[in-house]
Amino acid sequence: MEAFHYRNGELYGEGVRLQELADEYGTPLFVYSHAHFTERLGSLRTAMAEVDPLICFSVKVNTNAAVIKLLGQRGAGADVVSGGELFRARRVGIPGERIVFAGVGKTAAEIDYGIQEGILFFTVESEDELKLISERARRLHTSVRVAVRVNPDVDPATHRFISTGKKENKFGLDVARAAEVCGRTREMEGVQLVGLHMHIGSQILSVEPYVAALQRIIPLCRRFREEHPAFEYLDIGGGLGISYRDEEKELDPEAFAAALVPFLQPLGLKIVMEPGRYIAGNAGVLLTRVLYIKKNAVKKFIVVDASMTELIRPALYEAYHEILPVRQTRERAPADVVGPVCESTDFLALEREMPVVASGDLLAVRSVGAYGWVMSSNYNSRPRAAEVMVSGGRHALIRRRETREDLVRGETIPEWL
Ligand code: LLP
Repeated sequence: MEAFHYRNGELYGEGVRLQELADEYGTPLFVYSHAHFTERLGSLRTAMAEVDPLICFSVKVNTNAAVIKLLGQRGAGADVVSGGELFRARRVGIPGERIVFAGVGKTAAEIDYGIQEGILFFTVESEDELKLISERARRLHTSVRVAVRVNPDVDPATHRFISTGKKENKFGLDVARAAEVCGRTREMEGVQLVGLHMHIGSQILSVEPYVAALQRIIPLCRRFREEHPAFEYLDIGGGLGISYRDEEKELDPEAFAAALVPFLQPLGLKIVMEPGRYIAGNAGVLLTRVLYIKKNAVKKFIVVDASMTELIRPALYEAYHEILPVRQTRERAPADVVGPVCESTDFLALEREMPVVASGDLLAVRSVGAYGWVMSSNYNSRPRAAEVMVSGGRHALIRRRETREDLVRGETIPEWL
């Protein structure tokens, strides 16, 4: 069943009325479905069963402790890109051996932290980084597992701001440089090459870019397996796209597996995946209350209490998020849905056929379980929103709403002022 669905004309999250959550916890409010996370993890695992991958949830998409914990309890690992994310994953009990650490700009302190936590491997994105990892490992009298990130130069046919595996992107190393850096690990102390990594982009809706990327990476895998005794992993990253609107068909995990497994299985390597959006995207809605209806000569605006500070994706990528009325209505009229922030890019929908609503009504912005709360900010001194999880008929606050005091916590005024 869809996690968010109508029953008697009212929108529910699993067995809970969203109206009830808005009344109890206030708005704007992120609401997540427990069942959606677990079903998604399960369906990916089932589809990929033949290669039995280690599924490392990409923590950047949703860092809430309850979310990471529930996935960790079901065997998921974590893909982290900072010391902060590593801390969050370890804090809810994800063991180091299920954590992979990517990112082009790891600091020495973050590398030390990863080493201390015994992570599965660091994804190495440059030769300079490899040198630093080797130096930190020697300083800590240990040897560190690394996987070199290859930039296969394929077009994932997604928004240009979220593609990562094209030659002009900052991520990874082209095939020739990757081969060179892998070779270099043999003369370096403190590092062992354990695998290769790729992540070509996000919100990918077809298998072709993955297949093209694999075709470029597999010859390297074969070669390094021969040359490096510890080589045992291929990390294929994340990127599986979801449906943001009815006519958009998500990347079906069965089709994904059918296309990729024939390439992966013969390698005899351990496969790692780093899905984020696929698991979390449609697990969440953002509940917002209509403040005002405003009209000018050319347009109608629905002014709501959520904004780009809760959901920046429309402003940043012109991303489309479906918006549903919590109480179903038939009537529709074109409108912009805008927030209170003082920016013209502060919109959640532009020139869209919207349900006709009035001040006080509730709307639910869909597909915000990934890259929603985590990308929120305090701009315009807006306290960040609360997060709630529903499971069957239960609900619980999993992050309290920030207060005005939270806004100034950490600020100090010099005594000479
Ligand atoms: N692995 C690595 C190395 C990544 O950089 C990412 C996402 C993932 C895995 C997870 O990708 P996913 O499965 O969620 O597509 N803020 C943008 C998306 C940025 C993606 C960053 N990297 C958005 O809101 O669309």
